Amino acid sequence: ELGYFTHDPSFGTTASCESEITFIDGDKGVLLHRGYPIEQLAENSNYIETAYLLIHGELPNAEEFATFSNIIRRHTMINESLKKFFDGFRHDAHPMSMMMGVVGSLAAFYHDGLNMNDEEHLMVSAHRLISKLPTIAAACYKHSIGEPIVYPRNDLDYCENLLYMMFSVPCEDYVVSPIAAKALNLLFILHADHEQNASTSTVRLVGSTGANPFACISAGIAALWGPAHGGANEGVLTMLDEIGSVENIPKFLEKAKDKNDPFKLMGFGHRVYKNFDPRATIIRKVCYEVLEETGTQDPMFELAMKLEEIALKDEYFVERKLYPNVDFYSGVIYKALGIPVSMFTVMFALARTSGWVSHWLEMMADPKGRIGRPRQLYKGSPKRDYVSLDER
Ligand code: SDX
Repeated sequence: ELGYFTHDPSFGTTASCESEITFIDGDKGVLLHRGYPIEQLAENSNYIETAYLLIHGELPNAEEFATFSNIIRRHTMINESLKKFFDGFRHDAHPMSMMMGVVGSLAAFYHDGLNMNDEEHLMVSAHRLISKLPTIAAACYKHSIGEPIVYPRNDLDYCENLLYMMFSVPCEDYVVSPIAAKALNLLFILHADHEQNASTSTVRLVGSTGANPFACISAGIAALWGPAHGGANEGVLTMLDEIGSVENIPKFLEKAKDKNDPFKLMGFGHRVYKNFDPRATIIRKVCYEVLEETGTQDPMFELAMKLEEIALKDEYFVERKLYPNVDFYSGVIYKALGIPVSMFTVMFALARTSGWVSHWLEMMADPKGRIGRPRQLYKGSPKRDYVSLDER
C-alpha cells in the first residue's frame, strides 16, 4: 500500500487507485460499467442513462431517469459572456484547443459560489459539465466555420441537441437525423468511461489537489487530445488519407514496424486490451449499419476494412496482439454523419465527460483520499559535489 498508490506486481506497474466504476479484463476483452457489460448497455441503454449509472452506481428507475434527464436538459445554456471567448480564437484554431480553454474558464463563472466541501455542490458541478459541454463543443465548431452560435433547445434529447447546435442555421429549419442521433448515442455510450485511462487518471490526479472540477475536466480534455489517446480517432482518418489506396498498405505497415520511424498504425493496439477491444467489435457492426442507412459509399471505410484484414494477418501485429481499438472505426462513422475530422476528439471528450465526472466524484468522496503522487524509479546521477565554472 503506497498511500494513494498500491503496487500491484501482477499489473506490472503501480496500480493508481481503487474504484467501483469500471472493470476491464484486457485479456478476455471484458468491459463492465458498475457491473453491466458494455454490450448490454450498448444494446439497451442510452447515453444519459449510462451517465446516471456511472455517477450513481445503479440504473435509474423511471422517476430518477426523468429527473436526471430534466436536470441535464435544462442547464445546457452557457453564460453569454463566454461567447466572447470565441471571438478571441483564430477561426482555424483546433476545436480541442478551444474546448480546453473555454471549459477551464467555466471556473471563472461557477467557481466562486462553489463549496468544494459540499457534496451537493460537487454533484451540481458534475451535472453542469455534462449539460454545457455539448453547447461549448458546438460553439467551437460554429466558430471554426464562421457561422453564428446556435442556442440549445429543451425539447431535444442530448445527442439530438448536439447535432442541432452543430448543423442548424438561422435561415432555415433543421431536422435532426434519427440515424445520426441513434449512432451518436451509441458511440457516446461506448466512449463514456474506460477505467484509469490517461485522461481519467489526469482528472483524478488534478482533482486530488482540491482543484475545482472545471479545471480538472479541462486537464482531462488536454490529456485526451494526444494522438496516442483520444486524438487517435482523428489520427486514423488522417492516416487512411495518407495511405490513400490498398496498394500502399504494405508500405505503411512496414513504417509502423520500423522502430526508427515514429509512425504507429493509428487505431491499433491498446495499453490494456491484448484481445479485441469489445467496443471496437460493437462499433465495427454499427459502421456497416450507418454506412448502409446513410447510403454512404465511403472508400475510406473500404480502405479501413482492407487495412484491418491485412494487419490482422501480419505476424508483427498478431505476435504483439495489436487489434483495432475503439478509435479505429469511430472516425469513419463520425465522417458518415457529417462530423468534420477536427471535431472527432471533441466527440470523444463529450462522451468521456460522464466518466471523468464520475471518477472525480468518487475520488472526492473517498474519506482516505490523499493527493496523488506518482512514484518514480530514480535512474539519474548518484550524489555529487558542485563543480565551479572555471573547473568545467
Ligand atoms: C484510447 O487507456 C485507455 O483505456 C485508452 C482508451 C480509452 O477509452 O480511454 O481505450 C482510448 O486511447 C485507445 C488507444 C488509441 N491510440 C491509438 O490507436 C494510437 C496507436 N496505438 C499505439 O500508440 C499504442 O498501441 C498505444 C499507445 C495505444 C498503446 O501503447 P503501448 O502500451 O506502448 O503498446 P504495447 O505495450 O502493447 O506495445 C507492444 C509493442 C511495442 O513494440 P515492441 O517494443 O514489442 O517491438 O507493439 C508496438 C509497440 O511499439 N505497437 C505498435 C502499435 N501499438 C503498439 N506498433 C505499431 N502500431 C501500433 N499502433
